[in-house]
Amino acid sequence: MSEVAVVPDVARAAAELFVEATAGAVAARGTAAAALTGGSTAAPLYAELMRWPVPWEKLQIFFTDERAVPETSELSNYRIAREALLEKVKPAAVHRLRGEASDLMKEADRAAAELRNALGSPPRLDLMLLGLGPDGHILSLFAGVPESADRGDGELVRPMVAPTQVEPKVARLTLTPFLVVTARTVVLQVCGAKKAAVLARALKGPEDLVACPAQWLRRASGRVVIVADDAAASGL
Ligand code: 6PG
Repeated sequence: MSEVAVVPDVARAAAELFVEATAGAVAARGTAAAALTGGSTAAPLYAELMRWPVPWEKLQIFFTDERAVPETSELSNYRIAREALLEKVKPAAVHRLRGEASDLMKEADRAAAELRNALGSPPRLDLMLLGLGPDGHILSLFAGVPESADRGDGELVRPMVAPTQVEPKVARLTLTPFLVVTARTVVLQVCGAKKAAVLARALKGPEDLVACPAQWLRRASGRVVIVADDAAASGL
C-alpha cells in the first residue's frame, strides 16, 4: 500500500524523505544506496537537498535511467546531478549509466555487474527516486513496450528504445522493475494537473503493466511514498 502525501512543496517533502531513507540506511548498515532519476522534478529536489543534512560521504549513487547521449549532453540525467550535487559524493561511489556507450547491451551488462559489485547480489537500493511520465512511465519503462511488464530479475539493467511519442527519440538505458519492487523506499514526485489522470490510473486503475508501467509501484515490497501537489492529486 503506498502512502500519498499531498504537499505544497514537493521538492521539500521529497528531500525530507531522502534524508530519512539515507540516514536510516546509514544508521542500520553504515552506507546508503540511492538511485536518482531524471525529469522535471530532479533539479528542484537537488537544489533543496543542498539545505538538508544528507549523509553525503556514506552515499552510493545510481541512476534509474539514462538517455544514449554523452555525459555532457543537456539530456543527460547524470549531468544534471553532477552539476547540482555530485561534488558532495565520493567519485568512486557515483555509478552512472554510460549513455555514450556504442553498444548499449554491453553497457547494460557492465552496469548490472557494477550494481552487484557495489550492493551484493541481488542488489537492493535503499532509496529509488522516481518521476511519472504522461504515458504512465517510470524510469525508462515506457507504456506500450512489452518489456516494461517484465520484472527483469536476471538482468537488472537493460537497454530500451524510447517509443515514438517521446521526444527527442533517443535510445535509453533503464533499471528494470526488479529494482523498484525490491527497493527499501521508493519516492515518486508528481506535480501539476497534467499528471492527475495518469497518477489516478497508476494507483487505482485496472492493472496493466504494459499500458501503465507506474503500476509497478503497487508490487513494491518496500515503503512507497507518492509526493504530489494539489493539482496532481486532484484525481485521487
Ligand atoms: C527521465 C526520467 C523519467 C521522468 C519522467 C517524468 O529521465 O526522463 O527518468 O522517468 O522521471 O518522464 O518526467 P517529468 O517530471 O519531466 O514529467
